[in-house]
Amino acid sequence: KPVVLSGCQPSGDLTIGNYLGALKQWVNMQEDHDCYYMLVDQHAITVRPNPEALRKATLDGLALYLACGIDPGKSTIFIQSHVPEHAQLSWVLNSYTQMGELNRMTQYKDKSQKSEANMNSGLFTYPVLMAADILLYQADRVPVGDDQKQHLELARDIATRFNNIHGDIFKVPEPYIPKFGARVMSLQEPTKKMSKSDDNPKNFIGLLEDPKKISKKIKSAKTDGDEQANIYHNVAEKPGVSNLLSLLSCTTGNSVESLVPQYEDKMYGHLKVDVADAVVAMLEPIQAKYHQYREDQAFLNQVMREGAEKASAKASKVLSSVYDAVGFIPRP
Ligand code: AQP
Repeated sequence: KPVVLSGCQPSGDLTIGNYLGALKQWVNMQEDHDCYYMLVDQHAITVRPNPEALRKATLDGLALYLACGIDPGKSTIFIQSHVPEHAQLSWVLNSYTQMGELNRMTQYKDKSQKSEANMNSGLFTYPVLMAADILLYQADRVPVGDDQKQHLELARDIATRFNNIHGDIFKVPEPYIPKFGARVMSLQEPTKKMSKSDDNPKNFIGLLEDPKKISKKIKSAKTDGDEQANIYHNVAEKPGVSNLLSLLSCTTGNSVESLVPQYEDKMYGHLKVDVADAVVAMLEPIQAKYHQYREDQAFLNQVMREGAEKASAKASKVLSSVYDAVGFIPRP
């Protein structure tokens, strides 16, 4: 079976962007792939979160993975920091990554602009750790949202460079980006992507949010100035309305083309009510299951323990061949 690897940062409550761009694909891929899904807590510390908040977000994220349908009987689910090979390979790959390549990464530019007070080198080398995450499992496919495409291309470049020097050690991974839902946009600022760590909670919808709050946020979403409703899909002209239409499409499974004519004589309010209802309906079963998993710490521990064991078994083999290739002598 082809190998799949992906992860989310426990850097806040996972959003419908994380779900539609990534998690939903992960669930579908379980049937015919060998899947590794992790919570990347080592990536999350690059913005130096409160330790208690990180612990909580990691367990919340784990319970959410399960609630969304990721099945520990089919997939390997683990916490990044439980598998030390990620940090170990990342160090090696730092020496195979050019400063100029990292300088071009747009996520680093965005994040360092946002927090000038904390431009640490972890934020800068984030894509190298991400390359290590992927290459350790010889992943064939990496299902991510559109925002991670640039990082994935860098992982491919690093793997190719390493292979050119040392022989065929790494598999060069392919991105797997969904056609719809790959970039869910912010509700109030629809020209930027929805992010769980956005300072303004009106911009995102968390998977665990109260249905009434979700409806309220969607009903107050920005709809591109002109109050006379004009509902069509054009991201450049109407980013807010286009985002709502895409959301409705991803959540109902109906194409945007089939949806637009239904709103010909309708107001923005009608579209918003339908989007809110569809998002709430999508999240209802996830929220119900989440609470069951979150309260069962013994089961969460078992999932983490077994997942880390399986992940380590695979990762340690790849790391050994890398160590050998670069000239490290084995510990006697
Ligand atoms: N708005 C989005 N639309 C579609 N997909 C998205 N993803 C994130 N935002 C959207 C995808 O979700 C997966 C997990 O992302 P992550 O947690 O590793 O980090 P991120 O991409 O930086 O996501 P956030 O929510 O924006 O986190 P913060 O705010 O902490 O930076 C990835 O596959 C991503 O593409």
